[in-house]
Amino acid sequence: MRFHLFYLLGLLSVTSLTHAANNLICYYDSASYLRAGYAKMNAIDLELALKFCTHLVYGYAGLKPGTHELFSLNPDLDMFHYQAITNLHQKFPQLKILLSVGGDHDVDEAHPNKYIELLEANRTAQQNFIDSSMIMLRRNGFDGLDLAFQLPRNKPRKVHGSIGTYWKSFKKLFTGDFIVDPHAEQHKSQFTDLVGNLKSAFRTANLMLSLTVLPNVNSTWYFDVPKLHYQFDYINVAAFDFNTPLRNPEEADFTSPIYFLDEKDRLPHLNVEFQINYWLQNHCPAQKLNLGVASYGRAWKLTKASGLSGLPVVKETCGPAPGGVDIASSEGLLSWPEICSQLSQNSSAQYRGEKAPLRKVTDITQKNGNYALRPADENGDYGIWVSFDDPDFAGVKAGYAKGKGLGGIAVFDLGYDDFQGLCTGQKFPIVRSIKYYMG
Ligand SMILES: *[C@@H]1O[C@H](CO)[C@@H](O)[C@H](O)[C@H]1NC(C)=O
Ligand SMILES: *[C@@H]1O[C@H](CO)[C@@H](O)[C@H](O)[C@H]1NC(C)=O
Ligand SMILES: *[C@@H]1O[C@H](CO)[C@@H](O)[C@H](O)[C@H]1NC(C)=O
Repeated sequence: MRFHLFYLLGLLSVTSLTHAANNLICYYDSASYLRAGYAKMNAIDLELALKFCTHLVYGYAGLKPGTHELFSLNPDLDMFHYQAITNLHQKFPQLKILLSVGGDHDVDEAHPNKYIELLEANRTAQQNFIDSSMIMLRRNGFDGLDLAFQLPRNKPRKVHGSIGTYWKSFKKLFTGDFIVDPHAEQHKSQFTDLVGNLKSAFRTANLMLSLTVLPNVNSTWYFDVPKLHYQFDYINVAAFDFNTPLRNPEEADFTSPIYFLDEKDRLPHLNVEFQINYWLQNHCPAQKLNLGVASYGRAWKLTKASGLSGLPVVKETCGPAPGGVDIASSEGLLSWPEICSQLSQNSSAQYRGEKAPLRKVTDITQKNGNYALRPADENGDYGIWVSFDDPDFAGVKAGYAKGKGLGGIAVFDLGYDDFQGLCTGQKFPIVRSIKYYMG
């Protein structure tokens, strides 16, 4: 009896060990170092987060069209900042520091397909990418490279019931633009080959290689999971931004729900569960996967026709609401401190108009995420609807990752967490909450 009990306890502890989610991959956009005033994240702020992070991913390097070389997108900064960041190895000897390429920051309007062109290039040309990467990583003291390739995206779902729909689908039938990438099969096998060659070179040089699956890059099209997973040290699935005001200007919905909400014509693959299961079902070991969580929200502009309730799917929205001013200075984008500072602490405060705060709606099912809103006023102005993962919901996702036996969580981005402690006085509340719920 006794023996059995000990045996059982032994098994339990082994199981809980293998199920520990240990990785906290912290994306660090170097642009956060260049912001002004309180929005600037400097070395002292960053070091506070590094007590929690196991990996730091420096964003972002670019891909040179034509030669396919890895290059710095901001040499004036990177020429000293690469070293400043990799020198953190001295203070944090366990920390792995990788350089990420792409990440939707490598925008080159003259060459929108340069990542596809790299895949299509011959072996000699691809060697330029491999060689230039190794030189860049070694010269600057990085531990490895993260591939966040900007590949073609899933189409957003069509808005139903609007007058234009019939005409739009009619037009699509003839222009054929519903097929995003007619050569996806070929690109998938080319990606596998490139990664194989990259990995062989990196193995001898003792460099790490990781993959970031960017939002709405369709893994079915580009990633041959069974052949690919063992080439990477780990894979970060950026399972958010399924709906955004730029992709879905006419309707607002949860940006990164965990589960499929099978109603209102939602698409079955636009949720965390589907994306993670896709990799697991294709034999990627759970420990290799890190679930990506965003520390920012997406904000839509509401019209009078959007109504007062805010219950998603919210109709008749009008594209992105104004974005953050100092931190997330792009349309429809708000960092966590820029959201928390607008939330109402006062349930009897006014609900509409320029000065009114946003009212938060907490998802008590813990499945879809939280949102906050301010309906448009009588003139149709100042309406906003924002979907976000706050520290609580980021914690729910960390618990989810742990329950699935995943390797851990990847946070996008440290610079959008509340590194100044403006919301409650606590610095990096999202990173802390994730760490806490990963156990
Ligand atoms: C590989 O591609 C490069 C650049 O497009 C070209 O100059 C070269 O001739 C090609 N090499 C072979 C062996 O096809
Ligand atoms: C890729 O897109 C198709 C629809 O075009 C969808 O059926 C499939 O589930 C998507 N795969 C993933 C992994 O999202
Ligand atoms: C809450 O808002 C109402 C209406 O704007 C105001 O009269 C009241 O003083 C506020 N209460 C607090 C605690 O701020």
